[in-house]
Amino acid sequence: MDARALGQYFENPDTLFQLVNNTAVCMVACNALNRTGVISRLLEGPADTAVLAASCQVPADRLARLLDYLTAHEIIEKAADGTYSANARTQVMHDARDYLVSTELGAKAGSKMHESLKGDGTPFEHFFGQPVFEYFSSNPDAAASFGGFMGWMTRRVQRFLFAEHRFEPFSTVVDIGGSMGDLLLAILEEYPGTNGILFDLPATAEIARAQVAESPLADRVEVVGGSFFEEVPTADLYTLKQILHDWNDEECRHILSTIRKAIVPGGRLAVIDHIVSDVPTPNEAQSTDIAMMIWDTGRERRLAEFEALFAASGYRLDRMTRNPAGHSVIEAVPV
Ligand SMILES: C[S@@+](CC[C@H](N)C(=O)[O-])C[C@H]1O[C@@H](n2cnc3c(N)ncnc32)[C@H](O)[C@@H]1O
Repeated sequence: MDARALGQYFENPDTLFQLVNNTAVCMVACNALNRTGVISRLLEGPADTAVLAASCQVPADRLARLLDYLTAHEIIEKAADGTYSANARTQVMHDARDYLVSTELGAKAGSKMHESLKGDGTPFEHFFGQPVFEYFSSNPDAAASFGGFMGWMTRRVQRFLFAEHRFEPFSTVVDIGGSMGDLLLAILEEYPGTNGILFDLPATAEIARAQVAESPLADRVEVVGGSFFEEVPTADLYTLKQILHDWNDEECRHILSTIRKAIVPGGRLAVIDHIVSDVPTPNEAQSTDIAMMIWDTGRERRLAEFEALFAASGYRLDRMTRNPAGHSVIEAVPV
């Protein structure tokens, strides 16, 4: 999708208000109607307010106001007889439910950006009192929702990943910080005859284990809990999707060095992350860079910054498949 600058909304106060107010209100409306089951019910078929209110046990008056808001913005449909129905955007809103919930978490944390800028700690730590992955380890519902969000992100980039990039032949791939296993399972499906290890923090690995067990590819997957700051399993391909962007340079060098100790000779590292343009550009890399400043100590990086991390951790950049619209694949090999 073309990157468009938000500057046009700042040309006058009315468009600025429309942008900011609707972004916040739309997120709230979508989250409320996803969480109360109204959207799932609408996706089953048309219904009026009374039916939706009764089946989802929410007050009809306020429900109608939320539905009318989303109707006004063409996210659902309303017929002349007052019946609401789903359209293609309603399905997108449902598919993106974990993303929308995580965005709400990010908005809470982001409200502390000014405090974080003037002191130590990330905005997330200022709001929630602990680093994001510790928070997820002690909040399984939030962790599962974040895992769903990550799976949604993976599905967004999957077409690019398999159409534009081919991994060199490998026998075992470890997906480092592999969340619920969406990427690993997609890779195993694309590369028959290979095996995979899903590696993530113990609490996340525990949630992922149940999801992976339901896959027809489960017998090719081992789920391992641990920390990439300590030790990772041995393999000949390591994928790190949206991992390095969570951490500062020193932490990234630590992660890469841990992998360097385990990787077999001839093995490869595939970093799947945004590449920031040298010239400020209104694309996903630029906005996610700020999101990383909210969530943790990380950042999105320029290609030269990845090269420097590799060089300092015992690798060299070998090749890259650039994705102008999203995550690129940057492969490095041990030296
Ligand atoms: C931004 S998510 C990316 C998830 C997945 N790679 C993807 O792209 O869908 C970061 C992942 O790193 C995991 N993680 C964080 N700290 C970790 C650690 N010390 N060891 C292993 N995994 C960790 C998190 O649990 C989370 O699943």
